Amino acid sequence: MRIAVLVSGGGTNLQAIIDGVKDKTIENTEICLVYSNNPKAYALTRAQDAGIPTAVISPKEFETRDDFNEALLQLLLETDPDLIVLAGCLVVIPQKVVEAFRNRIINIHPSLIPSFCGTGYYGLGVHEKVLERGARVSGATVHFVDEGTDTGPIILQKPVMVRDDDTAQTLQKRIMQEAEWKLLPMAINLIATGRVKVEDGKAVVSGYDDEILPGLN
Ligand code: GRF
Repeated sequence: MRIAVLVSGGGTNLQAIIDGVKDKTIENTEICLVYSNNPKAYALTRAQDAGIPTAVISPKEFETRDDFNEALLQLLLETDPDLIVLAGCLVVIPQKVVEAFRNRIINIHPSLIPSFCGTGYYGLGVHEKVLERGARVSGATVHFVDEGTDTGPIILQKPVMVRDDDTAQTLQKRIMQEAEWKLLPMAINLIATGRVKVEDGKAVVSGYDDEILPGLN
């Protein structure tokens, strides 16, 4: 399976994917492109260090959003990946990209969807809102991308307990370590090995109860 990973920032989730491909916990998979909207993203350095082709297209280079959307679509069509992985990508994925890659785009979100998600819920702000609300549990979700914001079929989720002394930063870090860096490689491997399909708007993972769930506990 050929994957394109779309990033905007530090790229710790990208690193988890690079490591998973290398140590074969992600089977049968090659990262064919890392795209960033942000030329300064450290994720690009991680990709270059791993010998992965990179591309940067910033919306700032274009007069209209539609021109940018078209350029992004063309890049992805030329790359022709089997799967697009949003790993901390802050660009809103254009509708025409969603249509061209229906059920072939996944995203990692740092909360238990449908809580603390949707427009405006990104980065540290997600964790700040969890703490403001006094939620006792948060976590991470990997889902397919559809036309909405964080509304597509859920593939995998993992809870992480909130602690009394958490700050947004400590909660973000623990959710990454305990959930995100495991969940995203696991979801990619499940797709690479043909174990995920979408039926009636829901993701069905074969062997979920017997094999996946024990590994997530
Ligand atoms: C992660 O928290 C991810 O869930 C969210 O953006 C962050 C990206 O972090 N979508 P990194 O760039 O992978 O370190």
